Amino acid sequence: MTAELTFATTRREDPVPAAEREMILANPAFGTTFTDHMLTATWTKGEGWRDGQVRPFGPLQVSPAAAVLHYAQEVFEGMKAYRHADGSVWTFRPERNAARMARSCERLALPVLSEEDFIGAIRALVEVDQAWVPDSGTGESSLYLRPFMFASEAFLGVRPANEVTFSIIASPAGAYFPGGMKPVNLWLSTDYARAGAGGTGAAKCGGNYASSLAGQLEGIAQGCDQAVFLDSSTHTYIEELGGMNLFFVTKDGKLRTPALTGSILEGVTRASILDLAPDLGLEPEEARIGIDEWKDGVVSGEITEVFACGTAAVVTPVGELRWDGGSAPSTAGAEGGEVTRRIRQTLLDIQYGVAEDTHGWLTRL
Ligand code: COI
Repeated sequence: MTAELTFATTRREDPVPAAEREMILANPAFGTTFTDHMLTATWTKGEGWRDGQVRPFGPLQVSPAAAVLHYAQEVFEGMKAYRHADGSVWTFRPERNAARMARSCERLALPVLSEEDFIGAIRALVEVDQAWVPDSGTGESSLYLRPFMFASEAFLGVRPANEVTFSIIASPAGAYFPGGMKPVNLWLSTDYARAGAGGTGAAKCGGNYASSLAGQLEGIAQGCDQAVFLDSSTHTYIEELGGMNLFFVTKDGKLRTPALTGSILEGVTRASILDLAPDLGLEPEEARIGIDEWKDGVVSGEITEVFACGTAAVVTPVGELRWDGGSAPSTAGAEGGEVTRRIRQTLLDIQYGVAEDTHGWLTRL
């Protein structure tokens, strides 16, 4: 597939004043403020992609009959732009996000955007909003990029939409969890599943996140931060958190994560950690991991660390696991175990240009 899109730029007449922007960049929260511009493009059946625009950030005009509002025909991606010490701006494995979005689009019967157009669109937006990429001196700060695509056709019949909108918004972001490296406690959701066999669990679509919220609410009511979901067929195997994948460090030096079964999201951070494991003297393993292995493993000492990972949260230590009638202890201490911290720092050092990018994962924007 070759590039179909070019982007016309209309700059915002009243951009956020530089002093206000610098204040936001000095201490960004996650997902609350947005840059001066956004990107949009439209696809129509028979004509393909057209009307690429970088334009002032603002409300999208969407018909109340737009199919996405009724049937959730929508997918999205999460990625980041990092500023290196020399001022240059980079992103991490964007071809992986482009490929995953293509797979998500196929699952949701949306049109596929080529890798060239996907990365070209990221470049077009970041070029105009360059000043919004936080400095490398600000710890974990980056510009979070949120490409998304939705059925914008005004039509209430149930079929793939004939008009689709692609958009990218960007948001300066600090740590996803305000507690930083404080371990997150997890609630084991047994009443709810996030995704089922043959469903959309492997696609990055809004519906998966919506279906994780009731479990998350249940967890919060029990004093936890997030919920962990099991496979929906046997309620035995660990899948993921809804917005993050899970890893287990074992006492014999293995780095284990649930194998992709079709109902787990193939995280770019997950894949990168598996690729990095040998560099760190760890043996990566993708396997079906039973929930009892977790419960028993942290008690017997077989499992020495548990952590969650994702683009937004990078690597976050997991503390206690709680369920209706019981709990399994944390192995994370106050700030996560040694392996968790080492993996996190290795990833961040590559992303921020502190360590050599020996895997060739960075793309300059
Ligand atoms: C990400 O890590 O980028 C995600 O998409 C997870 C969440 C913020 C939805």
